[in-house]
Amino acid sequence: MRRKKALPLAVAERPVTLLAQQAPAPLAGELRPPSDKSISHRAVILAMLAEGESRIEGLLMAEDVDATARACGVLGARLRQDENATLVDGTGGRGLNAPAEPLDMGNSGTAMRLLAGVLVAQPFDTTITGDASLLRRPMERIAAPLRKMGAVIRTRPNGCAPLEIEGGRRLRGIRYHSPVASAQVKSCLLLAGLHAAGETVVIEPGASRDHTERMLPVFGVDSPPGASVRGGSRLTAAELAIPADPSSAAFMMAAACLVPESELRLRDVGLNPTRSGFLQALESMGCDVRISARGRFGGEPVGNVEVRWRAGMKGITLGGGAIPAIIDELPMLMAMAALADGETRIRDAQELRVKESDRIAVMGSGLQALGFRVRMRPDGIDIEGQPGPGRQNQASGGEESVTIDAAGDHRCAMSFCILAQALERPLRIRGAAQIDTSYPGFLADLTQLGGLAKNEQEAANHAR
Ligand code: S3P
Repeated sequence: MRRKKALPLAVAERPVTLLAQQAPAPLAGELRPPSDKSISHRAVILAMLAEGESRIEGLLMAEDVDATARACGVLGARLRQDENATLVDGTGGRGLNAPAEPLDMGNSGTAMRLLAGVLVAQPFDTTITGDASLLRRPMERIAAPLRKMGAVIRTRPNGCAPLEIEGGRRLRGIRYHSPVASAQVKSCLLLAGLHAAGETVVIEPGASRDHTERMLPVFGVDSPPGASVRGGSRLTAAELAIPADPSSAAFMMAAACLVPESELRLRDVGLNPTRSGFLQALESMGCDVRISARGRFGGEPVGNVEVRWRAGMKGITLGGGAIPAIIDELPMLMAMAALADGETRIRDAQELRVKESDRIAVMGSGLQALGFRVRMRPDGIDIEGQPGPGRQNQASGGEESVTIDAAGDHRCAMSFCILAQALERPLRIRGAAQIDTSYPGFLADLTQLGGLAKNEQEAANHAR
């Protein structure tokens, strides 16, 4: 048996605990949050498929996108970095190289699902694997429609990865009614559709993020409107700049809404309507959010987001078609809801259970451990807010820290860390190494704005 190549990142084996506590003063300042993770994955993959050298300004440097970039390198793209951009010499003219080893996608569902769409259309076989969290996530949602296109792709009996792909199949375009609103499923099928005969169309039950559809024309693909592509379309090298990630920006926005008298400005934030649910939710909660300097980065709308703390944040009800545009921000919203006035109800968000962790369980149990009243439901959660000041009625009131398990989920770890900025009692947040998958500079950025959070191990080494 071939030995699996060691994953150089080994994020899962790095136990990181954060110490986070009440911000000593209002948060203040300005920041350019890290670049968009979803758009970065797509930029590297499309640049790999294109003919010629693409120039990507502001590619996200974080472990998830590194996994995609490494895989694209193995498949034959030549990536290099100049002072201001990542340059990707695509395989357009020559075709992809067969990898000698399984491709390891680490923690990234987007990397695995999107690249599977590319790989089913190649003349060689591939195995795609990932870390323990990724190997628990559902993959039949892409495998089943890819089979309808003529692909040969095997999952394990539980429907998860490793994925085994047999190459050399001729694909045909399909019209697919997806049972889930998932941009990863949609993008996987569109990428496969580029190499299929005829047209591939994906119809979703709700509008998932449309970054792939917006980016294909930037690479010269003349795609029909909506989520569809024509087989045989050729990609040509492109120049593009990546906006700041609204999902990473959301943590700092939340911090400004939670810590009294705070005032922050976040620059170049992506304002794609399929990602803007958190901004709308903040408005419904009564927070003070303003957008300025609206512009565009290629096909993507951007702007600066200013958030000022305002007293009286209210609980809200969210569900139905509003969920896809806020799906990645729901952990942060749940943590905010704990300090809002009134109850927050989240419904139709069963997808949260199959993210990097079961985010309903991880956030719900963490909030319960802090003394908040929470009811978890199969598709969401009810959270009874306990607004400040003081929050003495929390079971957690006092000096001693409370330990919370983020279960290796980057967004849950960051959400608890932000909540701690507004709690009296310090939090120890275990299972936080994966913050590096999307936001490696998170602690530095939060500290720069005036927040209090550090890596327990690094702080101990420092004290020695
Ligand atoms: C993503 C799509 C969403 C999102 C994930 C990134 C993408 O997942 O939660 O963080 O880049 O396409 P689903 O497609 O599973 O909804």
